Amino acid sequence: MQILTTIAATRAARQRLRETRTTVSLVPTMGALHEGHLSLVRAARAASDASASQPGAVAVSIFVNPAQFGPHEDYARYPRTFETDCALLEAEGVDLVFAPSAAEMYPGGASTTRVHAGAVSERLDGASRPGHFDGVATVVAKLFHILEPHRAFFGQKDAAQVAVLRAIVRDLNFPVELVVCPIVREPDGLAMSSRNRYLSPAEREQALAISRALRTVEALHAHGETSPSLLIEAAQRILAGEPQLRIDYIAAVDPHTLLPVAAVAKVATVAVVGEGPKETLFAVAAYSGKTRLIDNVILKAGS
Ligand code: PAJ
Repeated sequence: MQILTTIAATRAARQRLRETRTTVSLVPTMGALHEGHLSLVRAARAASDASASQPGAVAVSIFVNPAQFGPHEDYARYPRTFETDCALLEAEGVDLVFAPSAAEMYPGGASTTRVHAGAVSERLDGASRPGHFDGVATVVAKLFHILEPHRAFFGQKDAAQVAVLRAIVRDLNFPVELVVCPIVREPDGLAMSSRNRYLSPAEREQALAISRALRTVEALHAHGETSPSLLIEAAQRILAGEPQLRIDYIAAVDPHTLLPVAAVAKVATVAVVGEGPKETLFAVAAYSGKTRLIDNVILKAGS
């Protein structure tokens, strides 16, 4: 496994892969890797190995991107576990790790060019964290230019991030296929996150109400509930059972535009074109102590 810290060396490695007609699958991360990240790496490895006729390489980037943190957020204390991360990636058969410094990615401090995906980047987490998705879109655009991947793997856990990245790939014609992987959870339901390690035992216990609320919403939808406001109220009631938990948002939205839906698609109906959205993103963000946690489920028609 090659570990590269400069853009020049990474471009040279990318050129060598081009010469051997090797495809590149990229998994962008901020490190502090857990099973959620590793599920993306495994999906990338499987996609890269799928073709008998064309070799495929898996690249993982590890970069805590200052441009996506607000001034009062956790950039300085974000967990950095580089050695352990590299050992985990090596064991997964990763070919290349790109781990630049902030100075390598943003020489002179910050990039004056910012990629803004439009209104979609101002909804859900984008509303609570102004500028966050511009920072994400900018760094992902840079990573796409540096590594020129054929495929890039992202987690459904960050559903709004997926919507923003789909928009930039579409609007800026990046020749990359986005692959979205399911949310990996702890056995008790908590969605895995690098930030879970900030939680005290009591805060972690309170945080379980989030996945509990989402499971209830899923069950109500499976039993025919299609009213967004009733589903939101049901989630609110469960979260209210943990009064220490501070709700940031509960939303039932279109997964592409992140705009609220008027009705959630019915289960067990034959989806007819023009009948309405087939998928609704039901998403929650809440603070347990000082830690902001996000989680979601996709409510599907006909499921
Ligand atoms: P990070 O939070 O490190 O997450 C890297 C990738 O892992 C993201 O695509 C995220 O959705 C996915 N992921 C995190 N937890 C997951 C879980 N429990 N199940 C499945 N996938 C999970 O997201 C970022 O970094 C950054 O914004 C980045 C895209 C790297 C740009 O800086």
